[in-house]
Amino acid sequence: MCGIVGYVGHRDAQQVIIKGLKRLEYRGYDSAGIALLNKGLNVYKKKGKVSELEEYLKGKELASTIGIGHTRWATHGEPNDVNAHPHYSSSKKLAIIHNGIIENYSSLKQELINKGHSFTSETDTEVLIHFIEDIQENNHCALDEAVRLALTKVVGAYAIVIMSLEDPNLLIAARKGSPLVIGVGKNEYFIASDATPIIEYTNEVVYLNDFEIAVINDDKLKIKTVEDAPMTPYIQKLEMELEAIEKGGFDHFMLKEICEQPRSIKDCLRGRLDSQSGRLVLGGIREYVNKLANADRIIILACGTSWHAGLVAEYMFEEFCRIPVEVEYASEFRYRNPIVREGDMVFAISQSGETADTLAAIELAKSKGATIFGVCNVVGSSIARASHAGSYTHAGPEIGVASTKAFTAQLTVLSMICLIVAQKKGTITDQKFHEMLVELENIPAKVEKTLKLNDQIREIAYTFKDATNFLYLGRGFNFPVALEGALKLKEISYIHAEGYPAAEMKHGPIALIDEEMPVVFIATRDSSYEKIVSNIQEVKARKGRVIAVVTEGDKLIPDMAEFTIEVPAVQETLMPIVSVIPLQLLSYHIAVMRGCNVDQPRNLAKSVTVE
Ligand code: G6P
Repeated sequence: MCGIVGYVGHRDAQQVIIKGLKRLEYRGYDSAGIALLNKGLNVYKKKGKVSELEEYLKGKELASTIGIGHTRWATHGEPNDVNAHPHYSSSKKLAIIHNGIIENYSSLKQELINKGHSFTSETDTEVLIHFIEDIQENNHCALDEAVRLALTKVVGAYAIVIMSLEDPNLLIAARKGSPLVIGVGKNEYFIASDATPIIEYTNEVVYLNDFEIAVINDDKLKIKTVEDAPMTPYIQKLEMELEAIEKGGFDHFMLKEICEQPRSIKDCLRGRLDSQSGRLVLGGIREYVNKLANADRIIILACGTSWHAGLVAEYMFEEFCRIPVEVEYASEFRYRNPIVREGDMVFAISQSGETADTLAAIELAKSKGATIFGVCNVVGSSIARASHAGSYTHAGPEIGVASTKAFTAQLTVLSMICLIVAQKKGTITDQKFHEMLVELENIPAKVEKTLKLNDQIREIAYTFKDATNFLYLGRGFNFPVALEGALKLKEISYIHAEGYPAAEMKHGPIALIDEEMPVVFIATRDSSYEKIVSNIQEVKARKGRVIAVVTEGDKLIPDMAEFTIEVPAVQETLMPIVSVIPLQLLSYHIAVMRGCNVDQPRNLAKSVTVE
């Protein structure tokens, strides 16, 4: 969602900011803008892509060593030039960029209107900067104090950066619920929603915490809380490499990330698993293994693709640990009156570690006494920090909006956690434990082999690129894969697709099947193989067009299906890590053939930081 970039130093601010905004494009947005100090505080903004803003800036006098820039994902007010950020204060001496929602904006707006303020946009953000300026004028205080006082009155979530005409070296940033990273360079500072705009300039960063305000003035960074307590900036080293956030010769980030999976899974296993010595250690959860083994139940909270990973984990934990598991959409869980008991173990799964609903759901569970384990990809993210313990997935930055390598890394981490707990609990035999370690170690090679099916899958994609509907069916561990396959297709190709448990087809979706309907079966050799073969027959009998993902050497299904995709044999519980790969490729190729913007599909955001 909204992307924030701020810069103050000795470089050309416009260049740093525009480049930074391009790095943040993957988050999803519909307009962009920039404010610079050049013979005045000037704001330029445009509906559409950053490239359109860049075009609009051509020929303008923009030299400035300080500035703020923003990509907006519309919440309050439609995407247009006026609602785009930055927004001016009443006097136009201040400009603000904002990610999040000020929930009490309408009452603040009314108060300000009563005082004679008028507004040009429909946004909550413009209200906030007017409010700050109003406080500054009434209290005759410094800008940072006015920001602090204003934030004590604000309800909602925010990451903001403010600059002022009267302080040419001053940037003020604050956060609650939306991420902000400050890059510390040599006589220069960068502020951004995540580290991607910063990494090429410095690897020293400070992650701002909730309720903190950063004041960068005359080359000094000071941090205080909204309660006015001074904090010492904690500078951390970024581990990210620049090449990890570039396309590296691929047409799209999504394809790059699909193809990276043998490596990302290896990275996820590295240093944690060694089948020869029987070693399986996840440092992040070590102290909690006993507690997990004694848990009465596990609750998994997640959204989107991460929720699908949670569903696979449910089956795994039940299989190996015999612990009841409930997998919850974070957005539903937090608005019910969920029963959480002290001692409940909660897993929060999130690629970005910033999904607002997941974050709020774990806060709720925490307040009821649950122990929270984060399974996040982004190091230092809000969910990772709000968790008691956890394990990173180490998949590297995922830029394509459709999640791919994060999903397989989540499954890898969750299966390791599950095996550690099962061993502790004694619900897995030594032999099975060892077999599983070997199988996990072999997964990267099997994923590599599956990726070689790319050309075959591209041909299948060509056959079905004009379909208007798709059904994805699977059973057992492959049921969540069916859901994930359908989600990938709708996200990036805008084809309507539904994932279903294959046996449930008879309770509804079967009515949709005719000679036009492509039905993707994930029918690898497992405990429900015979059953799914019958389901394929049922679809065939109604002239549906069957595409089947099967285990190499399958003798039965190739005779029934119009297209068969053969993946290597994998132990049933780990099969989703492999069987999802052809579905990722299928949706990718279909989307490309339909001319869709694969990496930035319409309306979607990579990191959903509003509720
Ligand atoms: C958005 C993304 C999805 C992702 C979901 C959950 O919808 O587009 O790819 O699965 O959020 O995100 P998280 O970062 O919490 O895994």
